[in-house]
Amino acid sequence: MIHESAYVEDAKIGEGTNIWHFAHVRKGAKIGKNCNIGKDVYIDTNVEMGDNCKIQNFATVYQGVKLGNNVFVGPHVCFTNDMYPRALIWNEEKLEKTLVKDGASIGANSTIVAGITIGKYAMVGAGSVVTKDVPDHGLVFGNPARLKGFVCECGSKLTKKAEKKNLVLLYCSRCKKEVSVDETIYREIEA
Ligand SMILES: CC(C)(COP(=O)(O)OP(=O)(O)OC[C@H]1O[C@@H](n2cnc3c(N)ncnc32)[C@H](O)[C@@H]1OP(=O)(O)O)[C@@H](O)C(=O)NCCC(=O)NCCS
Ligand SMILES: [Zn+2]
Repeated sequence: MIHESAYVEDAKIGEGTNIWHFAHVRKGAKIGKNCNIGKDVYIDTNVEMGDNCKIQNFATVYQGVKLGNNVFVGPHVCFTNDMYPRALIWNEEKLEKTLVKDGASIGANSTIVAGITIGKYAMVGAGSVVTKDVPDHGLVFGNPARLKGFVCECGSKLTKKAEKKNLVLLYCSRCKKEVSVDETIYREIEA
């Protein structure tokens, strides 16, 4: 379903994807199956996203961004792609790539500074400015966003269960899943 007010250029749109009021999808974008592209969303040239992604109202996803499957992008989230922007200087060589891996969520009104990777099932709190890579399952927030904990695939916070060699074993009390993270990464939340 593409709402009549949306403007979709020569882009690839997967089956079952809905594109809502006034959204603009640029040429060369690839959107997977069963995605939801909210009102006033902007999807730039050559942006790629997998299946089942939810892009909430007013989010702007710029060239150089790639989203995996099942990614949640909250309302008014702003991606960036040029670290040192100038009105009069732009070329594709300046473009910094950003990757958001499967299952990650980005809270409302966050800014994603260019050139980073947000790990699988990571969660970015509302209003964050993310300047560095976020590990898989990492919970980050603030400006600049710092690692504050870890979350399960289901979104609940993980608690520490045990330490094994260089790994910390984490546990979800809601769905009983276990996730292990590298000890050096885990220590960042204790710092
Ligand atoms: C970050 C988040 C997941 C909560 O994480 P949490 O670890 O459970 O955080 P808590 O609620 O226990 O709060 C811990 C501290 O962090 C602060 N905090 C919580 N969320 C924050 C955020 N997004 N930015 C800055 N500080 C935040 C709290 O005020 C609290 O501070 P204090 O210790 O000084 O009192 C949640 O607040 C959030 O931002 N969710 C995203 C909501 C959203 O954008 N949804 C999409 C659209 S519906
Ligand atoms: Zn869980």
